[in-house]
Amino acid sequence: MSRFHISGGNALHGDVAVKGAKNAALKLMVATLLAPGEHRLDNVPGIIDVEIMRQVLEHVGATTRRENGSLVVDVPESPRPEAPIELVRKMRASILVLGALLARCGEARVALPGGDDFGSRPIDMHLEGLKAFGAQFELVHGELVATAPDGLEGAEVMLEFPSVGATENLILAAVLAKGTSVIGNAAREPELADMASLLNKMGAKIEGAGTSTITVRGVPNLEPAHHRVVPDRLEAGTYAVAAAITGGTVRVVDCIPEHLRMELRKLEATGCEITHGDDWFQVTGPARPSPVDFATLPYPGFHTDMHPQMVALLSVCEGVSVVTENIYAARFRYIGELNRMGADITTDGQHIVVRGVETLSSCPVDGTDIRAGAALVCAALRAEGETVVTEVHHIDRGYTDFVENLASLGADIERIEESD
Ligand code: UD1
Repeated sequence: MSRFHISGGNALHGDVAVKGAKNAALKLMVATLLAPGEHRLDNVPGIIDVEIMRQVLEHVGATTRRENGSLVVDVPESPRPEAPIELVRKMRASILVLGALLARCGEARVALPGGDDFGSRPIDMHLEGLKAFGAQFELVHGELVATAPDGLEGAEVMLEFPSVGATENLILAAVLAKGTSVIGNAAREPELADMASLLNKMGAKIEGAGTSTITVRGVPNLEPAHHRVVPDRLEAGTYAVAAAITGGTVRVVDCIPEHLRMELRKLEATGCEITHGDDWFQVTGPARPSPVDFATLPYPGFHTDMHPQMVALLSVCEGVSVVTENIYAARFRYIGELNRMGADITTDGQHIVVRGVETLSSCPVDGTDIRAGAALVCAALRAEGETVVTEVHHIDRGYTDFVENLASLGADIERIEESD
């Protein structure tokens, strides 16, 4: 168990490079299961969730090894079609092995997922879609037992909501199914398009990834491939907020600003000066941000995983901002923590009213999920005094070298092990 000690007040300055996206790397790792042999993924972030997914892959019989920033995955001819509860509970993304193992083995036993605690997160759309492809499910002692007695067959599926995970699970199942599948109202996230790009390199026939209609023509088998993980837009966006809230100037490199268009636009509206090229952007924060309203929406809307960091910034704005959270029912546990630091924020769950205060002051706070933790760190960078952020194992799930990177930009931040 570690905690971060942060003394606020330093404006951040300098360059920071972002790593491959957590939410792409995890899916790419699952996608390798669709072809036996040795795959190589470059730019895989050094985060805990990748280690958990490595354990999932190893449980099904793959071997994995790190080679600098790359991950090599050797997938067996006959994977073991199961993902155990100890691993799936730790990370919701492991539910994607369901589609992959069903496609590869015709059966799968996967525990129901866990992951971040912000409201009930069902998987009904995943199951409904997979059923349309011919899968059958039974819930046995907390595990989903999936079978496809006649193999998977392509079908047309219209998602009720553009769920990222459901769209990905359906793509993974469809690539080796007989015939053609069409996924309507699909999620358009860049990380999902990245997974489709790896699958196409492996020999899959996927068209339209990144748009609302994805067509997958099934192929009998796939080959291993080599792929570079798309940069992490959430890591990039978090450094942008860290620069903005401290009134500093930070250049974020090795990223794709295009993937953060809405978030950068809203940052600009707070008074940030932003310039960018194809693979970098630079943010200069205002002395005090202006209020801005925003609503979270599926890509290309404002990302729900940037909402807590943005609220941290708006907590010191000059005026009142209204934020609407449309993706999750209960993403607000970090608000109580910000209020303990002197923020003035009220919420009914979906709507958040942020009355800007002039100063935040330090106190011990809990980072209850990855982005809540990141938001509290951003707030602490501005707060008067030394803030102690606990539960930082959540932050470690999503950010490589977070403390080191912020310190290199001039932040007064230190990781302390609980036993110290
Ligand atoms: C992914 C991201 C997560 C991000 C989210 C939304 C990963 C590992 N995680 O999560 O960081 O916050 O996209 O951009 O990539 N839902 C249902 N039924 C379903 C599936 C989803 O009701 O079958 C609901 C969820 O409870 C949630 C909403 O749909 O309220 C969005 O979920 P989804 O897009 O599926 O997110 P994830 O893929 O879980």
